[in-house]
Amino acid sequence: MTPAAPPQGFRHLAGHLDAALQARLVREVLAGVAASGGFFRPHMPRTGRPFSVLMGNLGPLGWVSDRHGYRYQERHPLTGRPWSPMPDALLALWRELAGDPRPPECCLVNWYRADSRLGLHRDEDEEVFDAPILTISLGDDAIFRIGGLRRRDPTWRVRLKSGDVVVMGGTSRLAYHGIDRILPDTSTLVPDGGRLALTLRRVRAA
Ligand code: SIN
Ligand code: MN
Repeated sequence: MTPAAPPQGFRHLAGHLDAALQARLVREVLAGVAASGGFFRPHMPRTGRPFSVLMGNLGPLGWVSDRHGYRYQERHPLTGRPWSPMPDALLALWRELAGDPRPPECCLVNWYRADSRLGLHRDEDEEVFDAPILTISLGDDAIFRIGGLRRRDPTWRVRLKSGDVVVMGGTSRLAYHGIDRILPDTSTLVPDGGRLALTLRRVRAA
């Protein structure tokens, strides 16, 4: 069964970023990821299975996943370098949309290629859940799925396009969600192709 609506607190802001801001973010985010050591491929903690997405981080804390588990850390797992700062434009979007006076501490950068996907999961490695999660889509379109607080709850789907922003606050902050698939070559924005998803999160209480 497909619910008629996404969970409470979920917002899809279609076309929120104009073309100039999208291009600037791609440039600044790729430069920031490159400066700390580039994209890395995370692995599932128990099975060691590689993710189909590549990841990078910006900001004081970065999310990583490997055999030791999911966690936040201050340095790139391969180079040991600190993550690059978040571009001002991302901090401004957070101020505009998050409704939380504390700045985000992590911008996770997911790079999806034609065959990448992200299975249903909850974002629950943070110490606080009272700030929303903001995700900015750049590049190819993607089919995003969101359900409820239990994995078996019915899910709702939406096509995300470049320049869209998703806000997951309220009940939706801890809802199961994922990316079913990418619609390849629907955009030329990302120089090497694919989709960049920028996910801003507050991790610690204060
Ligand atoms: C995520 O759930 O970590 C990313 C969602 C997205 O790619 O839009
Ligand atoms: Mn997530």
